[in-house]
Amino acid sequence: CRTIAELRTALIEGKSQLSGGNASVGLVPTMGYLHEGHASLMRKSAEENGLTVLSIFVNPLQFGPNEDFERYPRNEERDLALAEQNGIDIAFLPSVDVMYPTKPLTTVLVNQLTDRLCGASRPGHFDGVGTVVSKLFHLVQPDRAYFGMKDAQQVAVIQQMTDDLNFPVTIVPCPTLREPDGLALSSRNVYLTAEQRQQATVLSQSLDQAGEWVNEPEMNAEELVKRVTDKIQQAPLGEIDYVEWLRYPSLQPMDSTEPIRLESERYILALAVKFGSTRLIDNHLFGSS
Ligand code: PAJ
Repeated sequence: CRTIAELRTALIEGKSQLSGGNASVGLVPTMGYLHEGHASLMRKSAEENGLTVLSIFVNPLQFGPNEDFERYPRNEERDLALAEQNGIDIAFLPSVDVMYPTKPLTTVLVNQLTDRLCGASRPGHFDGVGTVVSKLFHLVQPDRAYFGMKDAQQVAVIQQMTDDLNFPVTIVPCPTLREPDGLALSSRNVYLTAEQRQQATVLSQSLDQAGEWVNEPEMNAEELVKRVTDKIQQAPLGEIDYVEWLRYPSLQPMDSTEPIRLESERYILALAVKFGSTRLIDNHLFGSS
């Protein structure tokens, strides 16, 4: 479906064919150039819902003026083949004109959770995400929506928005899929040169090491961030944007001398590292859920 009218017709037809036992609708929002990470979200939705809608839309609102909106990778034909193989019933591929016929004067901004990490590095990014995901929720009216924990801040922001605005949808966080050497799958990995690609494993490796360091007695946020920073700096082509240890999902910092309490609290170690102009992110959650 390329228009809202086509989407509405497809949803009505699709729902009318569902039997009572499995009448729920799942939504998997993406920006396309799909990989196995996206496919895992599609499969989970197809398993849990009678009807699954995939959206593919490179949302200009969530890109900064000097970011990669224009050159963001696109391959519609391959995406649609992958969608079909992974149980998608309806694919929604709107143009920018369909989603934003005029510049929107209404946007959805989630405060506080967007002050740090990618919200700080990419001003306006999460307003764009909140706005487009709100529109998709209204258009598709899903019972469940699937998001990857690769973008853990995005999950926290969407969950908060859903609670604050009473969207009748369950947010389903899904685990991060990785290459065999640990690099988190991302549409942007195609930008990396061979040498950058090799060094990019430093993100997942430092997260793994942090998993060991965090169990040392007396470990605190400051020391952990310092060790992870040192480790990432061993990759000469990488330039750190941020390394942060925060509570999750509140994304509030800890006092640097405060002890880490894995038995009772949940934390995130979140990284953003640039290789040339390619910005990679990764994270790991620690502690009790
Ligand atoms: P995009 O980057 O295309 O990602 C779409 C979904 O796939 C997101 O929920 C993301 O977290 C998930 N995903 C990406 N890489 C993954 C991986 N390696 N393992 C598991 N899941 C992964 O995120 C966006 O698009 C946009 O911000 C969007 C929500 C569509 C709004 O425009």
